[in-house]
Amino acid sequence: MPKYFMPTTLLSGKNCVKRHSRHLIHGKKCMIITGKHSAVVSGALADVTDVLKENNVEYELYDKITRESGISEIYALGQRMKTDGTEYIIGIGGGSTLDAAKAAAVYAANDIEPMRIYDEVYKNKPLKVVCVPTTAGTGSDTTQYVMLTLDDIHNKRSFSSPDCFPYATFLDSRYTRTLPLEVTRNTAIDALCHAVESYLNNQSSAFSDIVALEAIRLIGSCTDALVSGEFTEEDREKLLVAASAGGMAVAHTGLNVVHAMGHQLTCDKDIPHGRANGALLVEFIAWMAKQDIMRAVDVMSAFGSDLSSLKKFINAVIPTTEEITEDDIDKWLEKSIASTVTENCPGEFTKEDERFIYYNALINKRRKYTEW
Ligand SMILES: [Fe+2]
Repeated sequence: MPKYFMPTTLLSGKNCVKRHSRHLIHGKKCMIITGKHSAVVSGALADVTDVLKENNVEYELYDKITRESGISEIYALGQRMKTDGTEYIIGIGGGSTLDAAKAAAVYAANDIEPMRIYDEVYKNKPLKVVCVPTTAGTGSDTTQYVMLTLDDIHNKRSFSSPDCFPYATFLDSRYTRTLPLEVTRNTAIDALCHAVESYLNNQSSAFSDIVALEAIRLIGSCTDALVSGEFTEEDREKLLVAASAGGMAVAHTGLNVVHAMGHQLTCDKDIPHGRANGALLVEFIAWMAKQDIMRAVDVMSAFGSDLSSLKKFINAVIPTTEEITEDDIDKWLEKSIASTVTENCPGEFTKEDERFIYYNALINKRRKYTEW
């Protein structure tokens, strides 16, 4: 029977951190986890610390999270919180930062070796985590998933637990205003991939479909802004809500082959996560149309009259400039087909299907999308 479990309290809208300040207070001492840059320039850190000061909550700031932050750094942070009286955590930033906060919350509450976090069952509940995203894409603020970097940036591994949903998330689109355009575009396309991979997924249900389709529709309504790079506040709000809705959708279905295949592009060619997934998205939808034409049409219709409209949009916002060869594709097939998310793909998905998607998405410049 389909179930829907989403325990995170979502607060949204302009100035929501201050307007809903009681949802930011969960004890007398907290650790704020951020990266170096976005929490400060976005204004999110100042809003959060204002509320903490007004409510006499002691806080410590850990502002060293980067994309390269590895499991040993997060583990050490968790150990530190065990002895300094930290009662809860506030994560401010993009996906790496929010995931670091979620993982540190597990370590802070449990006496486990670093790699035992992958057991996904913990004796003690993690500390409460409050998320304040400064990007619109990751979905980490509404999921139970956590991606951690192991020994190098290309060696990442995720875990999940129902206990790892954030306790509360504040969505204020003002915090995304200072994002570089490239990051805004990459993260928006990542959010679109989350929603599409959830909707075209054999774990989908009526409940996950509702949020996935709304996320797709919201991003579809922002295509002009994403292409021009000119965003109204309403556009930014839509993208932020879509990103969290995309997270809510994949929280229930898991991801699909686009992320498994895109990961190879990131590892081998250093293509950013959102752009790597986006490069494969249209071809995945074209493949899915052979399994379920109506669902593929549902996705496509948010972007125009046929799949070539979506392709044109993606090429405009996140063009693939890297040279990809058939030898590259041969290297990636084995790794991506081995991903467990492949099981979420409706129909039988083979290595030849993978090759077909990679080839048409990345090499076949004459590919047209008018035949399905
Ligand atoms: Fe993603």
